[in-house]
Amino acid sequence: MQDALHRAAQANTDLLATRDDRWYPTFHVAAPAGWINDPNGLSHFQGRYQVFFQHHPAGTDWGPMHWGHVSSEDLVTWRREPIALAPSLEEDRDGVFSGSAVTGDDGTLKVFYTGHRWINGVDDAEGNLQVQCLAQSVDGVSFTKLGGVVEPPAGVLDFRDPKVWRAGETWYMIFGVQSAERRGRVWLYRSLDLLSWEFDRVLFEDPDPDVFMIECPDLFPLGEHWVLLYSPMTTARPSGHGGRNGHNAGYLVGSWAPGEDFTPTTSYRPADWGHTFYAPQTFEAPDGRRLLLAWMGAFTLPVASQRADGWSGQLTVPRELSLGEDLRLRSLPVAEIAALRRETHDHGSFDLAADGSTVLLEDAEAFEVELEVDLSRTTSEQVGLQVHRTGEGLCTWVAYDDQSGRVVLDRRSSAGGPGDRGYRSAPHDGGDHLLLRVLVDRGSVEVFVGEGEENLTSLSFPAEGPRSLALTAVAGTIAVQSLRVHRLAPIWESPDR
Ligand code: FRU
Repeated sequence: MQDALHRAAQANTDLLATRDDRWYPTFHVAAPAGWINDPNGLSHFQGRYQVFFQHHPAGTDWGPMHWGHVSSEDLVTWRREPIALAPSLEEDRDGVFSGSAVTGDDGTLKVFYTGHRWINGVDDAEGNLQVQCLAQSVDGVSFTKLGGVVEPPAGVLDFRDPKVWRAGETWYMIFGVQSAERRGRVWLYRSLDLLSWEFDRVLFEDPDPDVFMIECPDLFPLGEHWVLLYSPMTTARPSGHGGRNGHNAGYLVGSWAPGEDFTPTTSYRPADWGHTFYAPQTFEAPDGRRLLLAWMGAFTLPVASQRADGWSGQLTVPRELSLGEDLRLRSLPVAEIAALRRETHDHGSFDLAADGSTVLLEDAEAFEVELEVDLSRTTSEQVGLQVHRTGEGLCTWVAYDDQSGRVVLDRRSSAGGPGDRGYRSAPHDGGDHLLLRVLVDRGSVEVFVGEGEENLTSLSFPAEGPRSLALTAVAGTIAVQSLRVHRLAPIWESPDR
């Protein structure tokens, strides 16, 4: 694999020389250059958080998949690590696809990934040959591949994205499968030594007949419950508020124990309501918190940065998950993010006049907004934050909309380019108390509603020139209870170039 890694690093360095930073994230994980998609191998190993990701180091489009790698001691300052895995075996000839990581009893980091081959050697016209593979590392940086550990039965072409965890003495692995009837399923395997794996059962079949494949399934406990989080691929046309993207992720809450089926007690809910949130993966931090990162990107959209900027794709900020009493998954940025705050603008409490607009931050590239509004004293039809607001009045509009009772993220007037438009919205059930936390980077917006009951995650590419942030009222007044804006510091231990 050394030669393949060397070539990948060289190609990535060449691409880095062309990178344009106008939209390049300052506090989100992205590759120095090239394409990224799913977070992989999320883990804590030898005192550091390990984040790997699907990576095409030589281009800004999806291509032969490698695993890129970053690590951090504190979830705030990140170190770039060398590319961890490159195609080099017959099993992973056409790509080292998504997977997960655990620490084995021998103290090495074991990563499980899908080795991918195109049957015709070129594209998916005749389907895939996919095998769950194992690689291990003593130092968490350089890996030795051990080859395939779970082979697909004959005729099963979509068989990918292993997620491994331990319950008692037994290791479990789930991954996504497309059945012969074109239904999306999750299969469960078990093992005592992480090397030899036995089929346990079909853990789950999506009840929606339009779902033909499940990608990146993850099953984990939260309190008394188990959450099945996954990325369904569907032929259905979008309807309603959720699942409007080419790629969407959602979850069910239910029960599971070794030797049992997963029994859902809720119906499917979106894990996020924004434009770009896919392939989320979770892991358990050493202190027991359940943390999540997702890919903020899409296969279906031309992403503006792909064209001329030398990079494409970023991960969400790390988020901590919990379950509400109503069994809704709550997700908030990890508490550590507060350590990135540099300069706080406390706007206090005030009333914004009818149709008023007030600039909250100039040169607003990377920042966080904490906004609390008393809706009982607000007459404005929308409580709107103009994010990525540039000279010609372009912006991404993040607003509570009184008519629909929803929080809206509208990119109608953002500058991103083809496909990079439209609005998304999430429910608001805070009654008269509107609480919003919004994280804005150079090319993205993450909105957390209430205590994290809902979130909206979207790429958003502002037009040229300085960007500002403003609060704007529409045909009425806004009663702001509290409003703080914090600039956020960059996350990299050392500059890229
Ligand atoms: C999800 C996915 C996975 C696959 C990987 C390939 O985004 O399609 O199913 O392993 O990306 O990059």
